[in-house]
Amino acid sequence: MIVRPAEPADLPTLAQLWRTAWLDGHEGHVAAELMDARGPDHFAVHAEKYVGSTFVATGSEGQILGLIILGDDDGEVIQLAVDGSARGQGVGGTLLRSAEERFRGRHREAWLAVVPGNARARRMYEFHGWRDTGPATYQAPTATGTVDVPVHRYIKALAPC
Ligand SMILES: CC(C)(COP(=O)(O)OP(=O)(O)OC[C@H]1O[C@@H](n2cnc3c(N)ncnc32)[C@H](O)[C@@H]1OP(=O)(O)O)[C@@H](O)C(=O)NCCC(=O)NCCS
Repeated sequence: MIVRPAEPADLPTLAQLWRTAWLDGHEGHVAAELMDARGPDHFAVHAEKYVGSTFVATGSEGQILGLIILGDDDGEVIQLAVDGSARGQGVGGTLLRSAEERFRGRHREAWLAVVPGNARARRMYEFHGWRDTGPATYQAPTATGTVDVPVHRYIKALAPC
């Protein structure tokens, strides 16, 4: 598996993978207002918006297995998504570690928001040494503004290289 920066040619694959994985992680765990704001358009528009700060994990045939979107300004992991067929093989962990390496030296800590019901993602973050700092509210962007989403905020301290 290699991790490389995303390219514009990846966008259709990224938007589809992100949408499917997002639904897996959020359906039944977030309010209808957020679900309504997360149609296919949202993922197409935001995949394009973030393509310059997205990294992808690829398999032996060059196929995209997962993506991670980084908020370089403040050390946020904005999104992590792995294709359903590639889960449980360390792809998510590899992407998370690559994010930590990219942030190291530029931020004292990395952070992310996860909805309380996304138990699998929370287990993975804890397995990789991220710490749950407790409940918080995340302002999730929509086409018309933001929706307040109850989340848990996880952080990881980043020692200098
Ligand atoms: C959460 C998510 C990113 C995890 O990705 P992943 O590639 O499956 O993650 P990993 O394989 O690194 O680790 C997940 C599991 O595999 C196990 N694992 C890790 N490395 C492994 C390996 N080499 N072989 C077998 N299993 C392994 C982990 O222990 C963990 O097990 P668990 O879920 O039973 O606790 C993925 O499930 C996903 O995309 N979910 C939907 C979207 C989502 O929820 N994103 C996060 C939003 S905050």
